[in-house]
Amino acid sequence: MRNPKDFFKPMAIGAPEPAREIPFRPSRMIHFFDPSNPKMAAKAPSIAAKCDVLLGNLEDAVQADNKIAAREGFIQIAKDNDFGDCQLWTRVNSLDSPWFLDDVTQIVEQVGDKVDVIMIPKVEGPWDIHFVDRLLAQLEARGGVKRPILVHAILETALGVANVEEIAGASPRMQGLSLGPADLAASRRMKTTRVGGGHPGYLVREDPNPDDADAPRATAQQDLWHYTIARMVDACVANGIFAYYGPFGDIRDTVACEDQFRNAFLLGCVGAWSLHPVQIDIAKKVFSPPVDEVLWAKRVIEEMGDGTGAVMIDGKMQDDATYKQCQVMVDLARKLAEKDADLRAAYQF
Ligand code: GLV
Ligand code: MG
Repeated sequence: MRNPKDFFKPMAIGAPEPAREIPFRPSRMIHFFDPSNPKMAAKAPSIAAKCDVLLGNLEDAVQADNKIAAREGFIQIAKDNDFGDCQLWTRVNSLDSPWFLDDVTQIVEQVGDKVDVIMIPKVEGPWDIHFVDRLLAQLEARGGVKRPILVHAILETALGVANVEEIAGASPRMQGLSLGPADLAASRRMKTTRVGGGHPGYLVREDPNPDDADAPRATAQQDLWHYTIARMVDACVANGIFAYYGPFGDIRDTVACEDQFRNAFLLGCVGAWSLHPVQIDIAKKVFSPPVDEVLWAKRVIEEMGDGTGAVMIDGKMQDDATYKQCQVMVDLARKLAEKDADLRAAYQF
């Protein structure tokens, strides 16, 4: 086991000191774009103006023939732009692919100071993060990068889920985890053919009517991702990092997308991926706490005073634990409102 005192020493001579905390930055939507597509690349600045995070995707969904163009396109976009409050992330190819080494080497060497977070797909255990950690330190030292590049892992294999706590705590670089439901479904041998969301076959059914065995019985579709999201959230929060729902592939089904995002929000995620501009607005709406909840939470905090004891407000019992929940809500609202005048007005800060 590594000496805890060494955890915050750079992994290479000359690399920046590891971060002691991952500061909260709004990341309600991680918007994916393909940097090999010149039309999408041209739109990057206008999309960034509407997003918390813009991510240049080099992995799945980019054709093998376009992998190098995507990497070069991303580097060019990073060189040419300063997206201000919008963070710039990239998803590199997987650790076993023929592109990973050049993706990371060239990006850190050429635009290491411009990239906030590198997303690593198909992470299976802490050993994957340790490898990336040391490699990044070597490249940061060689390139004179001034602040540590953070790492975000996609949880998208059965082994990765089995090791989720160790992955989340594997390095001070760990910024967060995203659920990757498409690859995870394949890895787990789930019998689905979708990118996230529910499935009509995964349901519960009410008991038969004892007086009429043939009477129709109501069913309710269940959430295929509940267990994994909940586990991921616990692993993230226990390690001081952030949890995200990943992709929702049915772009036209904005209603179900919103439901999926909201389930993740309610369970503790701070954001989700957007694969199409229509999903940017959905994520923004869902991952900004609802105005009525924020106003209610402010009222509870005010009436609870120092936060101890119990009071009744509108017939509902409040105590230390509801006070803490309200603080979570107000704290998030305040951080988002710092950069958003509309939210500031709506939340009445
Ligand atoms: C995302 O990468 C997924 O596999 O769902
Ligand atoms: Mg995937």
